[in-house]
Amino acid sequence: MLEARTAVKNLHAYRPPLAGRSGLRLDFNESTVGCSPRVLARLRSLDAELLARYPEREPVEKEVASFLGLDPAQVLLTNGVDEAIHLLCSTYLNPGDEALIVVPTFAMYAIFAQAEGARVVEVRARENFTFPERDLLGQLSPRTRLIAVANPNNPTGAAVAGDVLLQLAQAAPHAAVLVDEAYFEFHGKTLIDHTRAIENLFVARTFSKAYGLAGLRIGILTGEPQQMAMIRRVASPYSVNAVALAVLPEALQDQEYIGRYVVQVVGSREKLQQELGALGLHYWPSHANFVLVRIGSAHAEFVRALRDRGILVRDRNYDPGCEGCVRLTVGTDEHTRTLIASLRLVAEQLGLRNEVRA
Ligand SMILES: Cc1ncc(COP(=O)(O)O)c(C=O)c1O
Repeated sequence: MLEARTAVKNLHAYRPPLAGRSGLRLDFNESTVGCSPRVLARLRSLDAELLARYPEREPVEKEVASFLGLDPAQVLLTNGVDEAIHLLCSTYLNPGDEALIVVPTFAMYAIFAQAEGARVVEVRARENFTFPERDLLGQLSPRTRLIAVANPNNPTGAAVAGDVLLQLAQAAPHAAVLVDEAYFEFHGKTLIDHTRAIENLFVARTFSKAYGLAGLRIGILTGEPQQMAMIRRVASPYSVNAVALAVLPEALQDQEYIGRYVVQVVGSREKLQQELGALGLHYWPSHANFVLVRIGSAHAEFVRALRDRGILVRDRNYDPGCEGCVRLTVGTDEHTRTLIASLRLVAEQLGLRNEVRA
């Protein structure tokens, strides 16, 4: 019998609940309005010639580097942040090495690290999901070769100060430190400018969230040029498709569109949080385009009841420290108004207020 590697056999398949997602999609932190019309127009203008050719990543990497104020040697376009994580794990993790992550967090760090045969060391976030800096430092060992931190974090929405992450990178020069800024646009703070000088620091960004391009699969990994050259050795030259590369410059240029969307999301996030408070539900103030709320034992019913009303949200009950929690993506003002109206009804219907107060 053909056997997969032991590390792979030990993995649990990660199956995000993607089937039958019709309605208001507030379950995957995607944009609720989609990409800019300029991007769509560019997409419609593409021809067979473009599709016949292998995609050429380099010219677009130059444009992205210039947009970010970085050297092109620091920038690798990837098939979403997922591929960036995968590449970092392939480049730096030997079997038996340790990958440090703060949980709860994005699932793919552990999956890709385990697939390399590394041991994943999980450090629990502190009270209210604050960053466990000291616990993390306490877990550093000579075998620590990767530290992955989402900032802001998913699914909690918590953010950690850049200085803390820089100290961590300094304390672990033998480890690749990934700061995953998938939700950067909703937070506004970044460590990207430090990636040239700090050899073991990497910053990832995605076009799947604020830019509304999750379906195109495009992300960015930045780091110090010599380290990025190592990562390029394991990267497929064609992992970013021609369509994504063709529209990316347009997406970057239409910052007005992104800015307008982000302003709406940040304002709606505030309104949603106020509403959750008024409903007597515990939530964690978020720096991203989603809010984590504690529903309690009725979490699955709550998700079902919203689904029945045409709104998809994500049950996070099984994440460490998230018992009874549900994650709500924040979209435009209109989408958030729709969510709030249904939240009020469902909270009443399930008697949530009473449960929280009891
Ligand atoms: C923290 C974090 N990183 C990365 C991703 C995935 O990004 P991409 O679509 O670019 O692979 C997500 C998606 O939910 C995320 O929450």
